[in-house]
Amino acid sequence: MSSFYQSDLARVHDQDFSSLARDAAYLIKKMATSDQKTVLDLGSGSGTLAGLLAAYGFDVTGVDYSPDMVELAQKKVPEASFIRSSIFDYEPPPCDIISMIGEVICYLFDHKSDEQHLGTLFQKLYSTLNPDGLLIFDFLTPDVATEGHLARRIIERANWSMFVTLDKDASGEILTRDITLFYKVEELYRRSQEIHRQRLYKKATLQGILEDIGFQIELLDSYGDEPFRTGHVGIVARK
Ligand SMILES: C[S@@+](CC[C@H](N)C(=O)[O-])C[C@H]1O[C@@H](n2cnc3c(N)ncnc32)[C@H](O)[C@@H]1O
Repeated sequence: MSSFYQSDLARVHDQDFSSLARDAAYLIKKMATSDQKTVLDLGSGSGTLAGLLAAYGFDVTGVDYSPDMVELAQKKVPEASFIRSSIFDYEPPPCDIISMIGEVICYLFDHKSDEQHLGTLFQKLYSTLNPDGLLIFDFLTPDVATEGHLARRIIERANWSMFVTLDKDASGEILTRDITLFYKVEELYRRSQEIHRQRLYKKATLQGILEDIGFQIELLDSYGDEPFRTGHVGIVARK
């Protein structure tokens, strides 16, 4: 496995990019019935969603590809369990709710991130969900903007600065996000760079795959207060 979301980027994500996970936690709490208590959080990152759901009384297992994310999550949320694995290799246990928050299915960290393997994954998740179980996730579509101010951005906070460029390939199916991070360590800044490639899925394609499996679908344009940007779509799929 190569390394993505290494320690500095993992910490920055945890510190300043958790609003989606926060909104999703609240939505899950609202949607879950009183007997739905087990959550499998695939692509659990630094454990923000797991921590909030554990505080609401859910029993949470998180799975993530990045060892640094898993380490952070274990320290932050000792009451949940975290496993390092690709979502495409993991054998999910029976559960009531499955979440994949923050474009998890799109990342090409694992070469298996394609339509065929995603179909197999959705089928596996359908089989393992308890009756009336919920699958909640979001993804990027080819409509995502890679021009204007989003194409080259500088984001700054007190202890880090990040330069991000976005680019779509000629087919419009692969997004490349080039991230250069300067993370403050005492009086100096430590530089790191990661290149994340993501597969863009058409809304109708994923909707079709899920409905063929037997899920009932609801499309979302936000998990809560913060609307998704153009080309970012959420789905609640009910078994
Ligand atoms: C944008 S972060 C979102 C993290 C978390 N869900 C949240 O909302 O804060 C995407 C996460 O997906 C994980 N990820 C990407 N591809 C994965 C894969 N194939 N298997 C497991 N985790 C994966 C990354 O390591 C990263 O932690």
